[in-house]
Amino acid sequence: MRRSWILALALLGSALGGAAQAPVLPAAWGDRIYPRLGQAGLDVTHYDVALRVPQPGTRTLQAEVTLSAQATRPLPLLSLDYLGPAVQGVTWNGAAVPFERAGEKLLIRRALTPGTTARVTVRLSGPAGRVPDPDLPVDLGWQALPGQGAQPGVNFSFSEPDGTRAFLPVNDHPADPATFTLRVTVPQGVTAAASGVHTRVQDTPQGRTFTFEQREAIPTYALSVHVGPLERVDRPAVQVAGKTVQVRDYFPPGIPPNIRAPYERTGEILRVLGEWFGPYPFAVYGSAVVRPALPALETATLSTMPVTSSNVRVIVHEAAHQWFGNSVPLGDWSDTWLNEGFATYAELLWVQAQGEGEAAVVQRWRDSVQSGPTRPLVARTAAELFDRSAYLRGALALHALRAEVGDGPFRTFLQTYARERAGQPTRTADLLALARRVLGPDAEGVLRAWVESPGLPPLP
Ligand code: ARG
Ligand code: ZN
Repeated sequence: MRRSWILALALLGSALGGAAQAPVLPAAWGDRIYPRLGQAGLDVTHYDVALRVPQPGTRTLQAEVTLSAQATRPLPLLSLDYLGPAVQGVTWNGAAVPFERAGEKLLIRRALTPGTTARVTVRLSGPAGRVPDPDLPVDLGWQALPGQGAQPGVNFSFSEPDGTRAFLPVNDHPADPATFTLRVTVPQGVTAAASGVHTRVQDTPQGRTFTFEQREAIPTYALSVHVGPLERVDRPAVQVAGKTVQVRDYFPPGIPPNIRAPYERTGEILRVLGEWFGPYPFAVYGSAVVRPALPALETATLSTMPVTSSNVRVIVHEAAHQWFGNSVPLGDWSDTWLNEGFATYAELLWVQAQGEGEAAVVQRWRDSVQSGPTRPLVARTAAELFDRSAYLRGALALHALRAEVGDGPFRTFLQTYARERAGQPTRTADLLALARRVLGPDAEGVLRAWVESPGLPPLP
């Protein structure tokens, strides 16, 4: 209904002549909060990204991005989210094709039919674009920190919710998660790190190329890329619920020992979380520490951790997002509590694993939620996506469910959710349906009250 209205208005607009030059855009994904993101019917399965960062610390980059594009319905053209550097050319299965930049979209006028895969390559070069965020002191997307004297500068991606499009052409909605290959070329003496397993280092005339394979699908916003004079610290591999996980962190120069120390506990954190959530979803995990005062971000397999968030609580939180958010992707941005409530709840699971009681944590959450207005858990505006209700009321909802069913069934519920929803765009209704199936209608009723009631339900 809504989509046909948008189309009708667009057609009317062009019929009236005022917008005659503006192309009619195909329907976007249909997100409740970001109605312009993504293309309905487009399924990008893989992004192969050759990224060159010739001067780390500046906004300049060059890339050749090949998307493996499939369609779940006939598409008359491709419409990618893109606000990045100048496009130098596009090929479709190897042949040059015309393209057009229309506002926030890169349009490629070739039809895509279900059952086929097109390899679409976009070449780009220039300064990264900017996506402002109402909550943050910086624009989302490609961050650039100039170097000091002879020290090279730093770049990194910081994109949740919609910043990846500031530097790469993507179907920028978490409901279309994809695998990634990243080949990042940097000057000699500079290190690159990215989501996935580091498979190779190669010296070329342009510099040194670091290759990463992210073999499990992740949302586009979760793509991690870090470039700079970084030190890589390898830790002992850990077994997480029967799965071997590589652990490594990256630090910029001059990070003092007290900031680095909590990261030594990453393996132990993954083990504790695995006891509740089941096998860790990826092959590798760790953190890349950054200096700007930003929120920490759960970038896939390599969380982006500001110096100011370098403590065990936040390391636990971002590690939990690897299951909830990165492996189990959001189906709609209004459901961020499915990410933030679960990751916050992990903080309590960690505290309990240290032999401490849960009461103080629960009390703190409750006092904090009750100190301001609360809301039903499905967000209605962008301002609500990362508010106290998403984090703390979301965590309290899970605590109420656990109190209702007991630890054993709650653990089964968490593990079933992590396993069944991996790679499946998930909405609040999916969680409620799972609660009903795994835990029964009474348990679902408790969870539903926490999801839907305007005020805070009584606490267990
Ligand atoms: N997901 C991040 C966390 O771990 C928070 C990101 C906040 N992003 C934003 N654009 N405000 O809690
Ligand atoms: Zn979070």
